[in-house]
Order: sequence, then structure tokens, then C-alpha cells
Amino acid sequence: MTGLDVGTIKRDFPILSREINGKRLVYLDSASSSQKPIPVLDAMDRVYRDHYANIHRGVYAIAEQTTAEYEEARRKVARFVNAADASEIVFTRNATESINLVAYTWARANLREGDVVVLSHMEHHANVVPWHMLASERGIQLRWIPFRADFTLDTSNLDELLAGAKLLAISAMSNVLGTINDIAPLAARAHAAGALVLVDACQYVPHVATDVRAWDADFVAFSAHKLLGPSGIGALWARRELLEAMPPFLGGGEMIRDVRLDGWLPNEVPWKFEAGTMPIAEAVGLAAAIDYLNALGMEAVRDHEMALTRYALDRLRDRYGSGITIFGPDDVHARGGVISFDYKGIHPHDLSQVLDQRGVCIRAGHHCAKPLMRRLGMAATARASLYVYNDEADVDVLVDALSMADELFL
Ligand SMILES: Cc1ncc(COP(=O)(O)O)c(C=O)c1O
Repeated sequence: MTGLDVGTIKRDFPILSREINGKRLVYLDSASSSQKPIPVLDAMDRVYRDHYANIHRGVYAIAEQTTAEYEEARRKVARFVNAADASEIVFTRNATESINLVAYTWARANLREGDVVVLSHMEHHANVVPWHMLASERGIQLRWIPFRADFTLDTSNLDELLAGAKLLAISAMSNVLGTINDIAPLAARAHAAGALVLVDACQYVPHVATDVRAWDADFVAFSAHKLLGPSGIGALWARRELLEAMPPFLGGGEMIRDVRLDGWLPNEVPWKFEAGTMPIAEAVGLAAAIDYLNALGMEAVRDHEMALTRYALDRLRDRYGSGITIFGPDDVHARGGVISFDYKGIHPHDLSQVLDQRGVCIRAGHHCAKPLMRRLGMAATARASLYVYNDEADVDVLVDALSMADELFL
């Protein structure tokens, strides 16, 4: 179908050879969290079996080796998103923590009552709640960019929304609609209005070659677990001068240069933001995930997802016509492989349970995007999401299995 040899890729993911309810596991929930290939599992296993020690502390060989691998992971992440320097990558627990880091440090140091943060209607709660919290605490004002009937961002009033704003905080790819927001022009308009730009790239970085400098963003947040890496580690990229000016986030451990009875001095960036023992093996696992994706080629990853998304959208509509409503753009160039849908009004949780009988894993619910669900007029949707280990056969199983719900629920 495309440049990816999915048959071979599937064999790299041990979990995909499992059976569920006597059926082949068909994993279509990668937007929630992806599966992990053998090189990632092996890399983490090797850390624990071979040279595990805490980082930045011991001066013995295995501690130095582990520290070197942790810092090499930072360089790999930096190259993966085309950061100017590894010191611009702060390791966090996940994208949520990366966004909260910006809200707790940069925003609390810079935003006052009445200051404006612009968000969109398609944000994940991770990029909504921290700003609501700041609104309650500080009286900052939130403005919202709506979306059009075709599920693309409605930028017709953008300049009005950005007037006087201090921050545009926006998703690069919606985890519900799949919509890809074209960040570079949005960032240009935000900067022209004097606002900084935070990109929630949690759904984007795993699927599309990412260039934070081409975006000309100021902060970019993402998680490892959605890009074939482990849970427990994420990253914040930020321009170095911003990181240097920002106050630290959490206190303790290696985030200090000095501590005395009467005060303390922060470490240099990025360590200033990395308090306490960090996710060490997870960083090495993340590096292995990046190596894996780079070996596939991010262009090929994107091409594969566009082709498979086209196939899935067409198959679902051809088979079910007006029985299925898909919430997301039709043009695969403007969207990722996240397919949210309503099937004949059957509750998504019921649907998900029926699909589970066929070994198919999909997500059902509000997808941590309740403002967006309200705009759609839906309490919940079913969501199938595609990644490098999915192929047409997986989509066919999903499409066939949906009809099983008819007998039970209609
Ligand atoms: C668009 C988006 N932003 C943020 C998050 C939060 O990611 P995490 O749970 O890894 O912090 C998610 C997770 O689903 C997401 O899809």
C-alpha cells in the first residue's frame, strides 16, 4: 500500500501477536497510547540489567554510562523536533506536565489579571485546565478559536481574538477530530500581536516530521508514550532564552547549583526544570523509539497514515452510509489517523465492548476534550486511531465488526 512494510513492523510489536477472546488483537487506540516495539523494550531492559544507576550523581562507571545515555536521549529528542540545541529539551512526565510547567513558571511569572490566553475549541483538557486554573487564581481571560463545519479551525476572527493576547496555546493535531492545525501561520499572527505560542504537539510529533523552528513556536509539548516510547516521560521544548528567564518548576534534587541555609541558586537549563530522580530507563526507551521511527522515516510514516486513513474513511462510509457520522475533516492532508465517529446512535461504550469480542481495541468517551464534545453536541464518540503497525486488514476487521452491534443494540 505504501512505503512501510507493515507485516514486518507488526512482528516488532510482541503484543500484536496476542489473541483476545480467541481473535487476533487489532489495536486501534494509539492516539491514547501506542504499543512498544522490541528495540524499545530491549533498550529499557538493558539499562536495568546492565548499567542502571542514578544519573548526574555517581562518579562510577555505570552511573556515568547511564548519565551519558540519558543525555544522549535528550540530544535525540532535540534532533527529532529540530531544536537548535539539546539544552532546549526539558524532560517531564508527559505532555500534560510540560504544559503545566509553562503555566506554573512562565505564565505565573508573566501573566497578570486581565491578560489574555487564546485557546481553541479543539483542545485536550491538558491544554485547557491549566489555563482555567490560572484564570481562577489570577483572573486571566481565556478566548477561544472556534472551528468550522468541516472541522478545520475558523481563523476568520483570529486577529480580534489575538488582540492584546499574551499567549496562543494550541494543538497541532486534535485527538478527537484528527484536524491538523497549520502552526507556522498561526504562530506568525500570534507573534505579530505580541503573543507567545505554545503548541500541544502530543498527537502530532508521533505522526508527522516536526520542526519547532519552522513553526517558530515558543513552547512545544509532547509525550513519549504516543510515539512508541514508554509512559512516564515527556518533553517540553522551549526557546533557550525563555527557559533561562523562567523560574524553576519543582524544587529539589539536581535542579540546584547551590543550596545554603539562607537560600539556593538554580541549575542551568534544562536541569533547572528536572527536580528529583528522573525517568531514566524511560529516556533511553524514548531514544530507542525515535531511532525506530527514524529508521522507518517520518515521511513514510505520514504517507502510510494518510493512505490508511483514506482507506478507513472510505470503507466506513461505503459500508454504512448515513449509519455512520465521522467527526473530522475528509481531506487526509488536513488530518491525522484519528477517526471519531457515531455508529447508528449506539453508545460508544457498548460499541467498544462489542468490538472487544472481535479483538478490536478502540476508545470510547469524551477523549478528555469535553468543550469540543459539547460543540459537537455529543456526550461521547467512538474513536479508532491508526499507527505504523496498522494496515488495511485491521481496518477491515473494524468495519466488519461494527455490524455485530446491530443485533445487540438496534
Ligand atoms: C492533544 C493531546 N494533548 C495532550 C494530551 C495529554 O497527554 P499525556 O496524557 O501524555 O500528558 C493528549 C493525550 O491524549 C492529547 O491527545
